[in-house]
Amino acid sequence: MNAISIQGAIKKYPKFTLGPIDLSVERGELFGILGPPSAGKTSILKLILGLVKPDRGKVLIGGANSDEMEVAERQISMVFQNLALFPHMSGRENIAFPLTERGVSSKEIAARLDAVSDVLHVGHILHKNPAQMSGGERQRIALGRALIADSRAILLDEPIAALDARLREEMRVELKRLQRTNNQTFVYVSHDEEEVMAIADRVAVVIDGRVAQVGAPDDVYNKPNSLSVAQVIGSPPMNLFQGRFSADGRHFECGDIVVAVAGIRDVPAGEQGTLGIRPEDIHRAGDHATRRFRISVNSIEPLGGYTIVNATLGGQLIKIRVSGQLDGPDDHGGSVVFDERRLHLFDSEGDRLGME
Ligand SMILES: Nc1ncnc2c1ncn2[C@@H]1O[C@H](COP(=O)(O)OP(=O)(O)O)[C@@H](O)[C@H]1O
Ligand SMILES: [Mg+2]
Repeated sequence: MNAISIQGAIKKYPKFTLGPIDLSVERGELFGILGPPSAGKTSILKLILGLVKPDRGKVLIGGANSDEMEVAERQISMVFQNLALFPHMSGRENIAFPLTERGVSSKEIAARLDAVSDVLHVGHILHKNPAQMSGGERQRIALGRALIADSRAILLDEPIAALDARLREEMRVELKRLQRTNNQTFVYVSHDEEEVMAIADRVAVVIDGRVAQVGAPDDVYNKPNSLSVAQVIGSPPMNLFQGRFSADGRHFECGDIVVAVAGIRDVPAGEQGTLGIRPEDIHRAGDHATRRFRISVNSIEPLGGYTIVNATLGGQLIKIRVSGQLDGPDDHGGSVVFDERRLHLFDSEGDRLGME
């Protein structure tokens, strides 16, 4: 049975419509929700928690229709983006709050507090009040409060956005470990692609109030089902070329850039479309490479483990990602080839064209 299922839910605000949303979260799953700011991510969590009622459609919690369920009955914890700690309570009291509310024994509270504070590295701030903590420390205390309760599911709204980069990386690994160890159901929202892709079992890409695609992180990355998903997933973003499919349906052409589209079903011959190629799928042309394209290099960003080459191709700026470091500025000049197994083609509506 699904832990959470949203079926055809619509919520209209004066200037924004969420949905229709359809998605299901499995028990024990770390389900990611990824999307740009104001896409509707927080609103989806509020639907699940019961803070927002859908105008149409329904939300099932543990298989049961939640229409009549109060927020507390749902047994779902949420860590809010703008977290709210009790200002007059210490870190320890804040974390333990859901358990003290329920009258859990102090022995059990102490044991669970120990486990949670280990994961979150908050042992040294448990005695402080929120006003004495940094933003990151407050965030971790708020996380602790959600983790300590024995919830059916935990909703995390950009839970580590306020932390510095190093701590973010550490925390996401720890959160994943905790979720696995306790076999908990997490719905994890972030606008940070890397964060969601790194830890989610499945991810829903939300754009303009709708779920644009749901899939394993690799699937969504390798086969974005629309141009909008292709643009949201990937950093640096996918290079896009607007052009036309040849009249015989065998090529895609954008000025001097011509690629074969063999192996693609239902090519809209003669029509406009878009070719996408990820920065890491463009390579320096070997001596005998056919279908090579001349680029001129504008700038090079050496990033240690990889290098971003900013270049011009067919009058258009592109980004190429090369693993490792380049020997010199000219190293990637000259000609490049596209990895033809890794082309993305979209029709004039922005829908992905399928490979055989
Ligand atoms: N209570 C509300 N009243 C009116 N508009 C709202 C309300 N809550 C959210 N919205 C609008 O819904 C859109 C999505 O918001 P939100 O779900 O917070 O996006 P995200 O979390 O992806 O940034 C925004 O345009 C926001 O202004
Ligand atoms: Mg939000």
